[in-house]
Amino acid sequence: MYTRLAVAAALLSAVNAVPVAQSGTATSSAAPAPTTSGPPAIATPAAPLKSGTPFQFPLPNGFNGTLNATELNNTNIQAQGTQPNGAAPVPLTEDDLLSFQMIAFNEIFEVAYFTDLLYNVTNNVTGYVVTDQGIGVKALQAIQAQEEIHADNANNVLIANGQPPIQPCEYHFLVDNLNEALGHAKLFTDVVLGTLQDIQMRLAQNGASALVPIIGSVIGQEGEQTGFFRQSGGLIPSSQPFLTRATREFAYSALNQLFVVPGSCPPSNNINLPIFDMLVPLNKTVYAEDQTLTFLVGTNGTAALEGTSFVWINSQNTPVVTNWTNARVAGGMTLVDVDFPYTEYLMNGLSIGAITNSSGPFASAEDVAKVTLAGPGLIDVLQ
Ligand SMILES: *[C@@H]1O[C@H](CO)[C@@H](O)[C@H](O)[C@H]1NC(C)=O
Ligand SMILES: *[C@@H]1O[C@H](CO)[C@@H](O)[C@H](O)[C@H]1NC(C)=O
Ligand SMILES: *[C@@H]1O[C@H](CO)[C@@H](O)[C@H](O)[C@H]1NC(C)=O
Ligand SMILES: *[C@@H]1O[C@H](CO)[C@@H](O)[C@H](O)[C@H]1NC(C)=O
Ligand SMILES: *[C@@H]1O[C@H](CO)[C@@H](O)[C@H](O)[C@H]1NC(C)=O
Ligand SMILES: *[C@@H]1O[C@H](CO)[C@@H](O)[C@H](O)[C@H]1NC(C)=O
Ligand SMILES: *[C@@H]1O[C@H](CO)[C@@H](O)[C@H](O)[C@H]1NC(C)=O
Ligand SMILES: *[C@@H]1O[C@H](CO)[C@@H](O)[C@H](O)[C@H]1NC(C)=O
Repeated sequence: MYTRLAVAAALLSAVNAVPVAQSGTATSSAAPAPTTSGPPAIATPAAPLKSGTPFQFPLPNGFNGTLNATELNNTNIQAQGTQPNGAAPVPLTEDDLLSFQMIAFNEIFEVAYFTDLLYNVTNNVTGYVVTDQGIGVKALQAIQAQEEIHADNANNVLIANGQPPIQPCEYHFLVDNLNEALGHAKLFTDVVLGTLQDIQMRLAQNGASALVPIIGSVIGQEGEQTGFFRQSGGLIPSSQPFLTRATREFAYSALNQLFVVPGSCPPSNNINLPIFDMLVPLNKTVYAEDQTLTFLVGTNGTAALEGTSFVWINSQNTPVVTNWTNARVAGGMTLVDVDFPYTEYLMNGLSIGAITNSSGPFASAEDVAKVTLAGPGLIDVLQ
């Protein structure tokens, strides 16, 4: 399975770069010019810079999923704040511990991504040269540190509950220029925004409602980030009135399919979530209109698709069940065509496609995840 995923992931780099804006509109600056320049803040410690393909931890500040007390203090200053300093949330249910494993797994990846991106931008790596390194670099420095704090916090929750912390894997990022790098950041952040909704619901159901506001504060925080990524690419900051729901299974699958070097995670991570077969859109840019999209499916041939449906998840609407068509094998790839019903549902922002072995109807994204064979197929409409 891993070999097939690796092949498909490599292919993804060629076919699915997911730019923020239309390709060709190169970003000359990582962000709009600052409008104000207030009094200087506390001197910010230098961001820990590192690069590599594959990207490997630890960072120069020792970050390896957690931070020691000295480096936590430095990172707090760079992140412009601290972790919640109230009592540790113990004991959590097994299901909520799984949520915090998932959060740590994702945040450690995000640390890798933004560390590498910051390195590229500040070292004038080809494709990442920006004319104005002002607020864009400051934003990335803050985001990188904020992700370290998020990861450290999730691992601290696990440790406080007697669980081993999540360890880093090795990562590759599938991009080689700033515009596409910000586009990817937008896409995976949107998936996180949807997944944290899932985690809030579970915390509430599991009797840990005191943590719901803390997760809510991170949803807003990551939403600020995605607004920055969107505006940097020429899109308006807010994509739609109700952001798209996702689930832990979709987020975990996407991270493993796209960014984690296959086989590089330590067995001690032991995260009890499925990794679905891949579902990769071959369409590089998707605009706000009805259209037929083509997906690569990570199954070996079309036989496994018999009797399956294609489901779209967007906003907070009930999932839309449709049929894929034209299943075929071309150039060694299993492909299907799918209608993207933009107009009927105004499917802006993130849409999550899934191939399911049930035709529903589905009340929620988690109902879809329970019967998913391949996914998530991630579409981000450029508007
Ligand atoms: C914290 O980590 C840094 C970077 O690895 C190291 O230089 C420092 O000695 C560590 N401090 C403590 C108290 O462990
Ligand atoms: C961080 O370190 C500075 C300088 O040593 C110290 O004044 C401050 O209290 C520390 N802050 C925290 C939150 O530990
Ligand atoms: C940084 O640049 C290298 C070299 O082009 C590239 O392989 C890597 O994916 C880039 N990282 C990010 C996060 O854009
Ligand atoms: C990157 O380019 C900028 C602008 O030309 C320059 O100020 C800076 O020193 C360069 N940084 C490196 C690491 O070469
Ligand atoms: C999506 O990509 C497929 C495969 O490259 C192509 O045949 C199809 O026309 C594209 N659809 C749109 C709407 O661009
Ligand atoms: C894929 O399916 C074909 C035909 O059913 C079979 O010959 C081949 O061995 C399969 N390949 C893998 C990697 O499972
Ligand atoms: C999907 O195909 C099935 C079987 O042909 C059909 O009954 C169903 O109406 C189709 N659904 C949609 C949304 O087109
Ligand atoms: C559908 O897929 C789910 C998830 O893989 C699996 O648990 C379930 O048994 C499957 N159901 C059928 C009828 O194949």
